[in-house]
Amino acid sequence: MSEFDDRDALIAAARDAAARAYAPYSGFHVGAALLLRNGDVVTGANVENASYGLTLCAETAAIAKIANEGWIGELAAVAIVGGRPEGSALVGGDPVHPCGRCRQILNEAAERSKTDILVHCASGDGSAVKSYRLSELLPAAFGPKDLGLIPD
Ligand code: THU
Repeated sequence: MSEFDDRDALIAAARDAAARAYAPYSGFHVGAALLLRNGDVVTGANVENASYGLTLCAETAAIAKIANEGWIGELAAVAIVGGRPEGSALVGGDPVHPCGRCRQILNEAAERSKTDILVHCASGDGSAVKSYRLSELLPAAFGPKDLGLIPD
């Protein structure tokens, strides 16, 4: 997969990931697929918790994976898919957008990657997709650049 291309393949990877969500409380399955600069794709799905408030979002789970591998500075794009499972399919006709916390967490990797990453937001049934740059979803972001952590 090339750096910014193949939106549909990235969304398909996010849908596959959503099938591995642990979401017994909300029943809302979210998958995130991160495209790295070298074409690799790393996915995550939401992980809920009986305490509710400790739930991990799909995007956060995926970012934790790349950070733990030393790839936080390699992010090019992300696809997010969410909906309710019906049999083996995910249903839901509206694109799912990242929550506020996930926008901030994505921004950490985006700034480290020196890329205003593409964010593809898809519906569970795949019928609707909206694409953005992260700066549209999180304008005037606070991030590592503000702490002097982005070398020129
Ligand atoms: N969720 C995500 O995984 N990502 C988001 O950006 C929005 C919400 C999850 C959290 C919870 O498990 C379920 O969706 C319903 O809120």
